[in-house]
Amino acid sequence: MESLKDQLIREKLPKHVAVIMDGNGRWAQKKGNSRIFGHQHGVTAVREVTEAAAELGIGYLTLYAFSTENWSRPKREVDALMSLLVSTISSETKTLIKNNVRLNTIGCRECLPASVLKKLEDAEAKTSENTGLTLVLALSYSSRWEIVDASKRIARDVQNGKLNVDDIDDNIFSEYLATKGMPDPELMIRTSGELRISNFLLWQLAYTELYFTEVLWPDYRKEDFYEALLDYQRRERRFGKTSQQI
Ligand code: IPE
Ligand code: IPE
Ligand code: MG
Repeated sequence: MESLKDQLIREKLPKHVAVIMDGNGRWAQKKGNSRIFGHQHGVTAVREVTEAAAELGIGYLTLYAFSTENWSRPKREVDALMSLLVSTISSETKTLIKNNVRLNTIGCRECLPASVLKKLEDAEAKTSENTGLTLVLALSYSSRWEIVDASKRIARDVQNGKLNVDDIDDNIFSEYLATKGMPDPELMIRTSGELRISNFLLWQLAYTELYFTEVLWPDYRKEDFYEALLDYQRRERRFGKTSQQI
């Protein structure tokens, strides 16, 4: 079968792709099921996209799995999401190791239940030597939380004499963010048709190409991912310059 993968220009692939995995609840409700059923099926899409990114040799894949704001959902749903996280990390760690994927997380670690944190730390440790794709899970993450947290640590370092105010620039600031050491995403994909950022990577997305699709997350497959990458490859990224300068 012909795949959009064959049309991709390998040299022009992004180094970092970020994804807002949205639409699990609507997917389930359309089928007359509970929202939680949708989250369970979202795991298949996570597996597909992770595998596709790893196969293509993409460096970083950041998946928005749970936002700071998502804590305000009904307790039943939050609990189900947390236990789904624990069981998924447990069952997938082997595959991550097999595929040379390194697991990282961004977000408020102290905000997570101890059981989740333990599984995460365990999976991070077991995959830390892997040299292929870095899979970054944004968990209890919000961009404003991240920027405020960075600002506090910068202020503290200035207070302690470790940092000069006049030395603070884009690069120094980035080093205080949860994404320290990672390139900014060149492409951000959001599923389910919503046209918003929902407090995701506000600093890092400054020059990112945005791609929106109507596909609901549990239906998202490798071909959908290739389609987004192809669209990205057709764009001209100007960074403020004129077309003639590119
Ligand atoms: C995304 O799907 C998953 C999380 C936010 C955890 P949603 O649960 O937001 O699904 P919709 O947007 O309500 O359909
Ligand atoms: C954003 O989706 C967060 C995640 C995908 C984890 P939401 O469904 O929570 O965002 P809003 O509320 O529609 O903006
Ligand atoms: Mg949603």
